[in-house]
Amino acid sequence: MAAVQRGVPPSLSARVTGSFAYLTIRDRLPTILTKVIDTIHRNKSKFFEEHGEEGINAEKQAIALLSKLRNELLTDKPVIELTDGLEDADSWNEYLQRQQRLQGDQEPVSWFTSPWLYVECYMYRRIQEAVSLNPPISNFDVFNEGKTQSFYESQKAVMTLCTFLEDIQKNAEKLSPDRLSEDFNKLLQISLWGNKCDLSISAGQDNSQKISPIDALASLQPFILVNDSGMVWSSLMSSQRAGESVDRVDIVLDNAGFELVTDLVLADFLVSSGLVRKIYFHGKSFPWFVSDVTANDFHWTIRQTMAANHKWMSKRGFQWQNYLKVGAWSYHDHPFWTQPHEFCDMAADAPDLYARLQQADLVVFKGDLNYRKLTGDRAWDHTVEFSTALQGFQPAPLCSLRTLKANVQVGLQPGQGEKLTSRDPTWMTNGKYAVIQFYSPKPV
Ligand code: F6P
Ligand code: MG
Repeated sequence: MAAVQRGVPPSLSARVTGSFAYLTIRDRLPTILTKVIDTIHRNKSKFFEEHGEEGINAEKQAIALLSKLRNELLTDKPVIELTDGLEDADSWNEYLQRQQRLQGDQEPVSWFTSPWLYVECYMYRRIQEAVSLNPPISNFDVFNEGKTQSFYESQKAVMTLCTFLEDIQKNAEKLSPDRLSEDFNKLLQISLWGNKCDLSISAGQDNSQKISPIDALASLQPFILVNDSGMVWSSLMSSQRAGESVDRVDIVLDNAGFELVTDLVLADFLVSSGLVRKIYFHGKSFPWFVSDVTANDFHWTIRQTMAANHKWMSKRGFQWQNYLKVGAWSYHDHPFWTQPHEFCDMAADAPDLYARLQQADLVVFKGDLNYRKLTGDRAWDHTVEFSTALQGFQPAPLCSLRTLKANVQVGLQPGQGEKLTSRDPTWMTNGKYAVIQFYSPKPV
């Protein structure tokens, strides 16, 4: 937030009629809310079976709260405080005050006048409030159906990916350093393109991976607008102390379904090849942006992979379970990941999390929302350096793997943005393009 005083560009907002932020708030968010209401309603008999009349009442109350939320959004009502008393409620309410101070007393903080990043995050927190205020259903994940469906629909691609990793491992002993870096690059790109498969951009419509992710790589290459993968590799190599494995890589996860599998496969490669000792996965502590990974999704995905009727897929699942058991992998969540802050606020507002990230040798940020938070979701000129847009957020060497689904993009060559706009006017939001962007606080 201090950034505003330093004269950085304004936050993206729905104030600009016709902008992607405007269309998201006007069309996509209400559609998502309608689907959430419908999902809760369709589960009425399940709630009754589990909790009797109380379950039915909870369903009614939750729907009433969500309908009210939808109405507030559609009529651009002021954003109101949270009342559920959950662990993070105070800090959300404080953030609302901060927004109000920034906006001045002339107008209230509201859906169409305030930063898009803030109000969009707030909607997901209000959905959480609607279920948490109704204890019989407070653990119900309103997005679970979409996430599991996207996993099942990507089965073929998942099998292909697991077979690919099996082949790499079979030849592991003979792998030259060049071959290792080539395989790393492939798996990094697969994890990158896995980010095409989020359900929030499609307002919950099927977005699963149906073709072979490995075969697709070559044809997708021209769509990577910035590719710093060489620097990511060099940074990993320089973190190897005296030929030992790199100590720790953190992956800040994005979506469940196929994208999560691509992240697990990348993490598996890093550990099984001996490149890295430990992987920390960071996920969300409640359902978020339709398809984001929660602890439940994470463990469910591993169990499903173990149970698959495919030799190499189930082998991977057992391996992943074992990594968790022996501590090579661990899953972490922190309330900061489900708050609306730009990441440049992390050191001040979540110093424990910042300190944890500082211990990593590399932090990989998956997806579009993480990119928006890395860059503050601001109207940067496309040629501004990635390091500038980070506004001092530099806990460790970091890398963003993101397909473009929001109109913020930095680190392009002069003229590159203009060329893209003339060829494909929706390049920033149609999910066809991607970036691998790297920044290190120390020279690589
Ligand atoms: O609703 C819009 C949005 O915030 C977009 O920026 C993006 O399409 C999506 O939600 C989240 O994408 P991702 O899952 O890649 O973070
Ligand atoms: Mg997401």
